[in-house]
Amino acid sequence: MRIDVFTLVPHAFAWLTEQQPIAGVLGTELELRLVNYRDTTPLRAGQVDDEPYGGGAGMVLRVDVVAAALDAMYADARPPRVIALSPQGRPLTQPLVEELAQKQHIALLSSRFEGFDERIVEHLATDVVSVGPYVLSNGDLPAMVLLDAVARRLPGALAEGSGELESFSEELGGGLEYPHYTRPAEFRGWKVPDVLTSGDHAKIEAWRRERVR
Ligand SMILES: C[S@@+](CC[C@H](N)C(=O)[O-])C[C@H]1O[C@@H](n2cnc3c(N)ncnc32)[C@H](O)[C@@H]1O
Repeated sequence: MRIDVFTLVPHAFAWLTEQQPIAGVLGTELELRLVNYRDTTPLRAGQVDDEPYGGGAGMVLRVDVVAAALDAMYADARPPRVIALSPQGRPLTQPLVEELAQKQHIALLSSRFEGFDERIVEHLATDVVSVGPYVLSNGDLPAMVLLDAVARRLPGALAEGSGELESFSEELGGGLEYPHYTRPAEFRGWKVPDVLTSGDHAKIEAWRRERVR
């Protein structure tokens, strides 16, 4: 799969690309391209934003700047999904993550300041996605959230089976995963449930299924 991220701070993604599971699939299952809007802006001095028509606080990411970045990267062959990250988008959910992880190629558009010129959302993006009902300072953290969630669903990203049986997975009917415990079996009087140390796999399985919420 290929993911292209359009951003003003490509270097911000350096930390994420060093982390597992992304580091493990980079260059094999995942090709990641980080594109700086400033590299192709048609404006002078690397300008990418402008004052809002009608007045008001903050600057707005310009439509001609984003169009130039997309044109330079794709000419006429854009990826089928160009996703603008915005608090005004539809929520990022596990089913959407699973859907995106099946794609060959997606692009993510990050903004900052007051956000996108609305024509970017209307004419250049195919989807608008939010990582939650709150406002962050920029779209880079949301892009990283989406990137991480998608990357861990790519083949080889996780140990076999561990990605299928997780909170929100089909396997758990979209519910939340059962609780986990590890050593010590007792700490400050807090005991691990006996069933988990019983060695009875059928009982353990039943106990876990009962605790899926
Ligand atoms: C300060 S926010 C702009 C908020 C916008 N003025 C509003 O009130 O909806 C700047 C950028 O951060 C990103 N962003 C902030 N919160 C987000 C969220 N919850 N989900 C996705 N992107 C977000 C978007 O790219 C957004 O354009």
